[in-house]
Amino acid sequence: MPTTTPSPLLLALREGTRDCHKTLEARLPFFSPCFDITDYRRLLQAYYGFHDPLEQHLSDYQGPERHKAATLTRDLLALGLSEADIGALPLCQALPTIHDEASALGVMYVLEGSTLGGQVLKRAMAERLGIGHDSGAAFLDVYGERTGSYWRSFLERLDRAPAAEQAITVQAAIDTFTRFEAWLGDCDVLN
Ligand code: HEM
Repeated sequence: MPTTTPSPLLLALREGTRDCHKTLEARLPFFSPCFDITDYRRLLQAYYGFHDPLEQHLSDYQGPERHKAATLTRDLLALGLSEADIGALPLCQALPTIHDEASALGVMYVLEGSTLGGQVLKRAMAERLGIGHDSGAAFLDVYGERTGSYWRSFLERLDRAPAAEQAITVQAAIDTFTRFEAWLGDCDVLN
């Protein structure tokens, strides 16, 4: 497979969010020694509270095939919640703002990029908690064998973005990381 040179926008996104990723990764409890299935369920509930409303805001900018909240629902059902429990979960009100394609791309970069790290988490949760696709961990591998092709097609979309709007996209990505971390903190699921 030919390797492609990262676009200036992708490089700016990586550089602009490197510290955000590091901080959030360090605070997420997936690898904490005492992390158990109850903690995992609480964490996934908090993920749902961010992804579900945010993906509704993104629906003008991405197709339903990239929506991940339905997979979170599937996992929460597998972990013992009812539809009613899921319907009653708190939803984040302080979401990143999506005004246009440039800001949508920044939000999408964070949500799409997380499917790459999800591959690491999928293996870790299988080992540590014994969960997989049908038992609460489908979200960690939400695109399955399409993970690589979905990421590449997202990168092609980034390539087409006008250079003049780069700063808007990077700021939206930083904002998405910051607000996600704040929300998870409010839900008391971070280290
Ligand atoms: C403990 C939790 C996490 C781990 C271990 C982790 C790990 C990783 C790894 C290994 C990569 C590089 C993958 C590759 O290049 O193939 C990556 C990329 C990325 N992850 Fe995470 N991640 C975590 C959480 C998150 C979260 C919660 C988000 C966002 C909500 C996120 C967003 C991203 C983004 C945007 C990229 C960059 C993609 C790129 O520019 O190439 N990650 N992560």
